[in-house]
Amino acid sequence: MRLVLLGPPGAGKGTLAGLLKEKLGIAHISTGDILREEMKNNTPLGREVKKYIETGELVPDQVVTKLIDNKFTRNDLADKGYMLDGFPRTEQQAKDLDKILQKLGKPLEYAVYLESSLPVIIKRLTGRRVCRNCGALYHIPNKPPKRKGICDECGGEIYQRADDNEETIKTRMDVYMQSTEPIIAFYQAQGKLKKVDADKDSREVQRILMKLFGA
Ligand code: AP5
Repeated sequence: MRLVLLGPPGAGKGTLAGLLKEKLGIAHISTGDILREEMKNNTPLGREVKKYIETGELVPDQVVTKLIDNKFTRNDLADKGYMLDGFPRTEQQAKDLDKILQKLGKPLEYAVYLESSLPVIIKRLTGRRVCRNCGALYHIPNKPPKRKGICDECGGEIYQRADDNEETIKTRMDVYMQSTEPIIAFYQAQGKLKKVDADKDSREVQRILMKLFGA
């Protein structure tokens, strides 16, 4: 299966991807995770994107599109199936993705739109904690780790993302409304859009989607 996950910051794209990748046996590619890994390793790319990520602005289209193009060119993702999370984020990125997939003869099948309301988003993002080592997601107070500050999965250190503060969340929401929301219509026009109420519990969202996919 070949799909993209769309939705505002905190709609649960990463959480859902974690659940779906087990069920569907496909790869999960998160541009946010890839860019944060580059920042953690202090690579030239990491240094270039840091200022955008920490202020909640978008990294320039050509930088992110090149990353995705390389992923598809070097791997057999298009054949085996994948879930893109955080890409595309602008209409230009959506058009470029279509071109990349057209070259491979494997067009996108679904664009899943996770609809979520602002109060839910703010609660989820301000409470989110992430394992620095394995990326496992937690939430204070809804899903705390068993031992404070330590990941249940791997014992790694749990931290709060630099962009998960109220001021940066506001910028990310503004950027989302301006640049990313218009691509909902882009995929609707292609007949690929599947909408789901993402304010619901993530297991319930997963169940609804599996039904929509007929899987
Ligand atoms: P990115 O990492 O993609 O951030 P985002 O889109 O803002 O999305 P999030 O990761 O914040 O939220 P999510 O929807 O995955 O929610 P999650 O599942 O974690 O991008 C970060 C930055 O990188 C961007 O601002 C930009 O600078 C740059 N970037 C990335 N891609 C780019 C691109 N293509 N172009 C340009 N720039 C790019 O859930 C959040 C919390 O809620 C968790 O604590 C979770 O436990 C909880 N939760 C989730 N779902 C539920 C549920 N159903 N019920 C209860 N709790 C839930």
